[in-house]
Formats: sequence, C-alpha cells, structure tokens
Amino acid sequence: MIVDWPDISKEDTEKITMGRVRPSFTMFLNNMTMAPNDYNCLEIGTSTGVNALTMLKVDFINLTVIDPYLDNQHEETIMRNRLKPYADRVTIIKDTSNNAVDLFKDHEFDYIYIDGRHDYQGVMEDLENWFPKLKPTGLFAGHDFNLEGVFTAVNDFMIKKDKKVYGVVQLGSQKVPRCWNLEQCCDWWAWA
Ligand SMILES: C[S@@+](CC[C@H](N)C(=O)[O-])C[C@H]1O[C@@H](n2cnc3c(N)ncnc32)[C@H](O)[C@@H]1O
Repeated sequence: MIVDWPDISKEDTEKITMGRVRPSFTMFLNNMTMAPNDYNCLEIGTSTGVNALTMLKVDFINLTVIDPYLDNQHEETIMRNRLKPYADRVTIIKDTSNNAVDLFKDHEFDYIYIDGRHDYQGVMEDLENWFPKLKPTGLFAGHDFNLEGVFTAVNDFMIKKDKKVYGVVQLGSQKVPRCWNLEQCCDWWAWA
C-alpha cells in the first residue's frame, strides 16, 4: 500500500471544500510557485461544469475540459452556460478522453483532474494516456477514490510509477474514512 491518508480535521475539511473546491486542487494551489497566468489545468469528465467552475474562479487558471456528452445534451447546455463568463480562459473539447489525447503535446498541463470513466480499465487508460501530458512539476489527480475501480487502478498505476498517492475519502464510505465533508471530499492526487 503506497497511499498516504492524511488525517484532515473537520475544521480543515470545511476550509478546503469551501466553495466546493476539491482537496487535490487546494493542494495544487498551495504548491504553486510560478508566475500567475501560466497555469494550464485539465478536467476529464466535466458534466454540468460544477467542478470546472470552482477552478475557473481562480482568475489565473486556464482550463481545458473534455467530455463526450454522449446522449447528454442537457448537461452540455448547462455546462456551456455555466462556463460562459470564463470563455477567454476555457477550452471545451466535446470528445472522449482517448480521442482527445493526441491533441496535446507532452508536459502541457500543471494539473490534470480525472473524473470521466470510473471503471478499472477506463481509469487505467486515462492514467496511462494522460500522465505524459503532465509537467514534471505537475499534480495528477482525480475524483471518486472511494470507488473500487478508481482506487485499484490508481494504486496499480502508481505502484508501477513508484509514486506516492495521497487520498481523502468521504466519511462513512466503505474505504478508509478520513474526511468529514460529503461528496466533494473524495480525491486522490500524486505529484509527477
Ligand atoms: C461524474 S461526471 C463529472 C463531474 C464533474 N467532474 C464535476 O465534478 O463537476 C462524469 C462525466 O464523465 C463523462 N465521461 C464519460 N466517459 C468519458 C470519456 N471517455 N472521456 C471523457 N469524459 C467521459 C460523462 O459524460 C460525465 O459527464
């Protein structure tokens, strides 16, 4: 087991999930050292754009979002309306993550957040395809670490890469409960 489960107090959890900012994104923001405006972030699986909005509220973040919106026109419309005020800093790619990967050069992103497919094979494909797209100083992260497919794929991948993974899982989940807020607080992350 190479997962490190930081013990996060109820008070700290409230701080880091304020405005629904995900824990991994807070870790990313806390570790930024470059000049503002240079940060490129990516979200795989965006749905209605709830999490994308929290990232775009940080005014120096450039964000790319990828989602195929298969049979999901309604969610796409909500997302486009929600992110419209930030159009100058957001790139929307309506496609699967597998199809989109070749649009990007290696080392393009500072923060990659994986929240598309949640089955073992789908998560593993995203991890393998997108890890090279992360800068050497970047943070690789994703949601739903309580799900078996996500948890196992992330662990298997990080063992291969000899990387340490950090995780928080919501209170009451089947896995290790370490976090006090529901839903928002279910992330994994690892430094490139
Ligand atoms: C849990 S939702 C994402 C929620 C969003 N990240 C948030 O927190 O606000 C999962 C999304 O992944 C998308 N998805 C499914 N398969 C995908 C794929 N192959 N590539 C990219 N996105 C995918 C779905 O269309 C869905 O909108």
